[in-house]
Amino acid sequence: MRPNPAARLAELRDPHFAPRLPLVAEVLALLRAQGDDLAALYASTVGDDVHLRGIIEFSNYCRNDCAYCGIRRGSGDVPRYRMTPAAIVAQAARARQWGCATVVLQSGEDPWFTAARLCEVVRAIREAGVLAVTLSVGVRPLDELRQFKAAGCDRYLLRFETSNRRLFEHIHPDESLARRLRCLRDLDTAGLQVGSGFMIGLPDTPLATLARDILFASRLELDMIGCGPFLAHPDTPLGGKPLLADCEIYFKTMALLRLFNPWAHIPATTAFDALTAGGRNRVLQVGANVFMPNVTPGEFRRLYQLYPNKPCVDEDGAACAMCVRGRLAGLGRPVGVGPGHSQRPDRKAAGTPAAADRKTPS
Ligand code: SAM
Ligand code: FES
Repeated sequence: MRPNPAARLAELRDPHFAPRLPLVAEVLALLRAQGDDLAALYASTVGDDVHLRGIIEFSNYCRNDCAYCGIRRGSGDVPRYRMTPAAIVAQAARARQWGCATVVLQSGEDPWFTAARLCEVVRAIREAGVLAVTLSVGVRPLDELRQFKAAGCDRYLLRFETSNRRLFEHIHPDESLARRLRCLRDLDTAGLQVGSGFMIGLPDTPLATLARDILFASRLELDMIGCGPFLAHPDTPLGGKPLLADCEIYFKTMALLRLFNPWAHIPATTAFDALTAGGRNRVLQVGANVFMPNVTPGEFRRLYQLYPNKPCVDEDGAACAMCVRGRLAGLGRPVGVGPGHSQRPDRKAAGTPAAADRKTPS
């Protein structure tokens, strides 16, 4: 029998219904929803407060050669840069003044940034009054993750990129899916709030793969879910690969992730603005509740182009922080206060910092 999207949506939203994740076929039906079913999918996914996390892209050195990424090791023409620890700390302190309560530090897999150096940076940023620090620096061993936590790091982002093992290994010559998933478990063991996610619309993948990725991300019970469209970078092996024929699929994916993960923090990732004008605004309207203004110093932005059409490469951090407030005001969305820690009920019950955080899930 063909799954009925409207009936399934009603069940999923019913607080008395024992939550069960849908089957792949049901997710596929929801991804194909049109008309009233689509309106119903989008209707109840609008959040309220939006947390600002300033992102600093502090190094574009990378030892990996991921087939989709504009700063991969093999992108020989990209001039490489690495901010000094002192410059990163100073920029994070500025981001705080610009209204970003928390920061995300992201880089390629750069071995120069040893655990000791990153810990020094995290510690200094926390001492400068930034309420929380997220690291996004690739796969690291458990003992390093524990050091990050002890230094004051709160959260960590590491996408699994795709749950299809064959595809993962095809596009990641230096990595295995098992190793990445192991690192996600280690993050939990180290007591860090865990963020993960995938690229939507990787080339030559059927819609069922996307449905499986949505379910896979939801089964991980993540604190944060970061997803964005795959955008072909011309200087990579996946250059020239097309977008999904139906642009709505990108937004339906985000709405489904919100539906299946009511407690997760979900950012409106930058790649949505590269996909289509106002893309991030739309994602905020279908379930996202986090915005990450780019607070990387202007001189480095053009050198951290993971994909084409990256927005704001000619801006500076202050401009981006101002601009996001205007966007949110236009959408009638208040800026979240406090560190915006995990809202997962089990984390709150365990007395993690989330317990001290604000009210209801967005
Ligand atoms: N090195 C860290 C890691 O691998 O987790 C963080 C940096 S990595 C560049 C951040 C994310 O950028 C990746 O997880 C990937 O999903 C995304 N990304 C890279 N190239 C992309 C592309 N061409 N289109 C969309 N997203 C891309
Ligand atoms: Fe390393 Fe993209 S290949 S950050």
